[in-house]
Amino acid sequence: MATITFSSPLMEKDLTVYAVAGETAHSVLKLAKKNKIPLPFECEDGECGSCVIKVTSLEDKPRMSQALTEKERHTLVAEGLITKQELKDAEVADMPPAYRLACQFIPRDEDILVRFSGEPGVG
Ligand code: FES
Repeated sequence: MATITFSSPLMEKDLTVYAVAGETAHSVLKLAKKNKIPLPFECEDGECGSCVIKVTSLEDKPRMSQALTEKERHTLVAEGLITKQELKDAEVADMPPAYRLACQFIPRDEDILVRFSGEPGVG
């Protein structure tokens, strides 16, 4: 089981929630909505970029791999939120970039910090 700690200037304090790893019904956005976390969103389908988050591992081990969805890759590139090196690392080594789309990102079995500014499209 993973813990996800949400942090944002919109929140009085950080909030940690639990996620069952690998369940597609539990994207970070769905977990945020379920826990009334004010994470911006619009399309919920990886296309608008309003749910951008910055993800940091809270563990002392390398990040778990997770391939980007095609929509997530396209939107992160279009919004300038992923470098060429991060894109290569994601495609070749499944290394996740810092910025993700909360509606596309399914938590793995690792403890992470999810930051968001509260401004749509700005992680
Ligand atoms: Fe539109 Fe996530 S809500 S990309």
